[in-house]
Amino acid sequence: MSQNVLVTGAGKASGLGFNLALRYLEAGDTVCATIRKPCGELEKLKEEYKDRLIILTMDISSTGSVQAASDELSSQLSHLDLLINNAVSVSPDCDKGFFDADLDLIARTVDITAVGAMRVIKAFYPLLKACGGTGLIMNISSEAGSISRCYRTNLLDYAMAKAAMNMSTMTLYNTFKDERKINIFSVHPGWIRTDGRADNPAPLSSYEAAEILRELFEKREMILKVTGSSPILMRTTLFNARQGSFGCGGAAIKQSSWITKEQIGELLFLSQKTSAQTKRQ
Ligand SMILES: NC(=O)c1ccc[n+]([C@@H]2O[C@H](COP(=O)([O-])OP(=O)(O)OC[C@H]3O[C@@H](n4cnc5c(N)ncnc54)[C@H](OP(=O)(O)O)[C@@H]3O)[C@@H](O)[C@H]2O)c1
Repeated sequence: MSQNVLVTGAGKASGLGFNLALRYLEAGDTVCATIRKPCGELEKLKEEYKDRLIILTMDISSTGSVQAASDELSSQLSHLDLLINNAVSVSPDCDKGFFDADLDLIARTVDITAVGAMRVIKAFYPLLKACGGTGLIMNISSEAGSISRCYRTNLLDYAMAKAAMNMSTMTLYNTFKDERKINIFSVHPGWIRTDGRADNPAPLSSYEAAEILRELFEKREMILKVTGSSPILMRTTLFNARQGSFGCGGAAIKQSSWITKEQIGELLFLSQKTSAQTKRQ
């Protein structure tokens, strides 16, 4: 059955957001792709997919801009099945370590990447709720946001922003859990050549990574079974492209395990195990 999907930060052809939009269009879904500035490649997709692609301008650092985009989409679609928070912003000092980085730049990265995703969720919540109990929010996080797996001394602003995003995922899960109409996950998408450069050593193109994620998100029934049956949830699902496996763990959960992509069903087991372990503590 075709679904309505929103992807933020879809205005860069080599990026993950654009390629997620493309994959969903190719799969027959209706896509709302949000951008900050005009994107020629997206306009070309619009010519091809016509009404199935809605392009909206939205700056996630502005509550007004996000609300305006939501109001516009509400006039065009009755509901959203899936919201993918993909947009990200990093400071020019991202690669620097603690002593060299301008710490005053960190707040903006966190505001756009983590708080921005929450602005989007808040504004589009009525559309997600209108989908009738299977609404899904996928926050594109990163292994860089995992506290238990942290090994770097740089990427301060990015890592802090993604850790904050993971925590917001947990908090919003708690917020939505009684209603059980909307589920929310953080997902690490793998190491991707999002700059589109051939000499980038990352194993996945954005187009490849987008399809892996689309397939993962299609396991909705299983994901919902996990989330619907467990009061304390493993919220952060990590996909490790190099190892070709999904892992369960992340910023908020100490125990973490790795499972193969083919054994995605194991998520259920791992989640229950995490839940039982947490209850015992
Ligand atoms: N590449 C990897 O290996 C990797 C690994 C782990 C996680 N990820 C995650 O995967 C996602 C996609 O990565 P990417 O490299 O494709 O991202 P990106 O191109 O750096 O950013 C995605 C989009 O976010 C938009 N954006 C920035 N600030 C915004 C704002 N204030 N409002 C709205 N949109 C804004 C950008 O728009 P403009 O084009 O206008 O700047 C850009 O098109 C990110 O969340 C990233 O953290 C990537």
